[in-house]
Amino acid sequence: MEAGMPKRKEPGRSLRIKVISMGNAEVGKSCIIKRYCEKRFVSKYLATIGIDYGVTKVYIKDREIKVNIFDMAGHPFFYEVRNEFYKDTQGVILVYDVSQKDSFEALDSWLAEMKQELGPHGNMDNIIFTVCANKIDCTKHRCVDESEGRLWAESKGFLYFETSAQTGEGINEMFQMFYSAIVDFCENGGKRPIPNISISFTKEQADNIRRIRNSKDSWDMLGVKPGATRDEVNKAYRKLAVLLHPDKCMAPGSEDAFKAVVNARTALLKNIK
Ligand code: GTP
Ligand code: MG
Repeated sequence: MEAGMPKRKEPGRSLRIKVISMGNAEVGKSCIIKRYCEKRFVSKYLATIGIDYGVTKVYIKDREIKVNIFDMAGHPFFYEVRNEFYKDTQGVILVYDVSQKDSFEALDSWLAEMKQELGPHGNMDNIIFTVCANKIDCTKHRCVDESEGRLWAESKGFLYFETSAQTGEGINEMFQMFYSAIVDFCENGGKRPIPNISISFTKEQADNIRRIRNSKDSWDMLGVKPGATRDEVNKAYRKLAVLLHPDKCMAPGSEDAFKAVVNARTALLKNIK
């Protein structure tokens, strides 16, 4: 059996899988799991100490799935405890808080930690990842919008869901799709791509949308030096307009990026003789 593939139990078509949660402290990992498994929400913060373990049984396409959930502590202090638990995982719930930008920016370092712990022979392509943009009920304080989160997740071939453990929004849907994707992946002999999470845009498009979002001024947005000529501005604009036109680009956030590029060009041309 391929490393990382779950143990299959025939007959009865029951499947045993291991799922872990990952993400910064206080983003809501334990609450998401509690909301799904126990249908309740606890507003008081009770930090997970090292790791919490639970078993649940779910039915996906008439198949019994026994899920071992390892809910990890997000605090750096617990690194030594959680690093043991990365191996033999079929699914990862990667959580950030939409009102805490740093928790979104930390997602890459969570992937890096997992990769490091799996070692040179560990294969992250065998694992289904689902990203939860959590606490969407905190609308007033939201600072990571849907297109930004979705772009990050979908660029990597991960599932993406907007969730609130408090209201329950998105939680059942997330778990259903997540478990279904794991089952499909296992039944398919561990082969990708899984149709509903295939990537419908290029890396160049994704990188440019991110670059535009983070640019400091109109020059930067078009990728030209301050003081560039009309021709240079127009050339840069045309290139980006072709790349990001919403009719052609399916990447999350392409429409806003396209509008920003149009506005940047207009603003620059106004001041260039
Ligand atoms: P660690 O175990 O320390 O890694 O944290 P965690 O990610 O498990 O966070 P936890 O689930 O304990 O939730 C942290 C705090 O956020 C708690 O006070 C929760 O009540 C709150 N919380 C979790 N999810 C939501 C949500 O969707 N909306 C709101 N408003 N609060 C939430
Ligand atoms: Mg926790």
